[in-house]
Amino acid sequence: MANVVIVGTQWGDEGKGKVVDLLTGYADCIVRFQGGNNAGHTLVVEGKQYIFHLIPSGILYEDKRCFIGNGVVVDPAVLLQEMDELAAAGLPVTPERLMLSRTAHCIMPYHKSLDKGSEAALAKGKKIGTTGRGIGPCYGDKILRKGIRLGDLLDPAFFRERLVDNVAEKNKLLTELGLPTHDVDAIYDEFQRYAERLAPFLGNVSVALDEARKAGRHILFEGAQGTQLDIDHGTYPFVTSSNTVAGNACTGSGFGPSHIDCVIGIVKAYTTRVGEGPFPTELFDEIGDRIQKKGGEFGATTGRKRRCGWLDMVVVNEAVRLNGINGLAITKLDVLSGLDRLRIATAYEHEGVTHTAMPWNARMTGQVTPCYEEAEGWSEELGEARHFDDLPPKAKAYIRRLEELAGAPAYVVSVGPDREKTILLRNPFESA
Ligand code: IMP
Repeated sequence: MANVVIVGTQWGDEGKGKVVDLLTGYADCIVRFQGGNNAGHTLVVEGKQYIFHLIPSGILYEDKRCFIGNGVVVDPAVLLQEMDELAAAGLPVTPERLMLSRTAHCIMPYHKSLDKGSEAALAKGKKIGTTGRGIGPCYGDKILRKGIRLGDLLDPAFFRERLVDNVAEKNKLLTELGLPTHDVDAIYDEFQRYAERLAPFLGNVSVALDEARKAGRHILFEGAQGTQLDIDHGTYPFVTSSNTVAGNACTGSGFGPSHIDCVIGIVKAYTTRVGEGPFPTELFDEIGDRIQKKGGEFGATTGRKRRCGWLDMVVVNEAVRLNGINGLAITKLDVLSGLDRLRIATAYEHEGVTHTAMPWNARMTGQVTPCYEEAEGWSEELGEARHFDDLPPKAKAYIRRLEELAGAPAYVVSVGPDREKTILLRNPFESA
């Protein structure tokens, strides 16, 4: 029995989908605990492509149970569409295989309007670059105690009452922004249809996970986004609206912290970021373009081009500390093949002072100069490596240096997008 949390150590898009897919093979239960359909990953299995935004990819395995915890924000239309697409691909999603927390908050149509409307109203340089999926306004309502939870949809009178108040308030804001307003009856009818379909899936995720744990099942907690997008610990305000760190695996699912055995941090072999905000090691030259093209660095959710830069160990070490990372999964190492020299940022300099921890605010993070050490590159392609010793010596040295700087060992090294292009050095479900 082991309970493992996976988190991104950078700004998201570290290739979590593939590592989650790999470790799902050893797990019995897979749990999403934060974020919503701002996340996304694509998996290719037996020639078929699947895109996941909300449902854990563990749903591809018939014998696994998937959970969407209370910390997730759920757009019911997106969730049902994802279920329909899986059913059309021959994978019916049943309540035996997917449980939704009754206390997860719903992303409502007005959340999406407000997300897009308030982003559009921000001046250049102040935009967050959100995914426009309604994430921030939905979490905002949760904290303001105005939110509507999945379970509320099953109580039509209560749901309608909450909806009337919310629509009145949001319509005022939308009118101020010069945007179309929403109609209570239209949303009510739409959500009653969703409620009917979702009712059999709703349950007490905390109780179900506790039962699974007591029965000796392996549980995998799948984080979305990355540590630098955490609402408390990231480059605020250029962050998402949830806690992306491992501690939230517990809060966002109702699982006791003392039952977590291992935290795996996903580290892309270089750094990327989508949306706005500071990025100290960002490359604006042909090396950045080359990494962007070779790495296929486009967002799975919005299709936006990702900004690319050198590996930043200040960022990674921040994640090691904040998440209590036991082991690393290093992804996209193959993308660096063909570069003569590589650079790794080990500290920042700001106004004559050297920092090894991230500055506390985004303005300062935008002003730092990274202190780099150089590493030798390698020319060999890595896609065929299946064991650590199959890697060229300079690629091995890069990994060893990364482990040394992070103070955590590599458990997984990924050398290509396909499932089999993976080196598994240590299995967290076996060694926890
Ligand atoms: P939001 O989560 O849509 O509110 O967007 C806030 C910030 O987080 C923006 O910079 C997004 O680009 C970023 N973001 C949200 N989800 C992801 C993700 O899954 N990967 C990478 N960046 C993300």
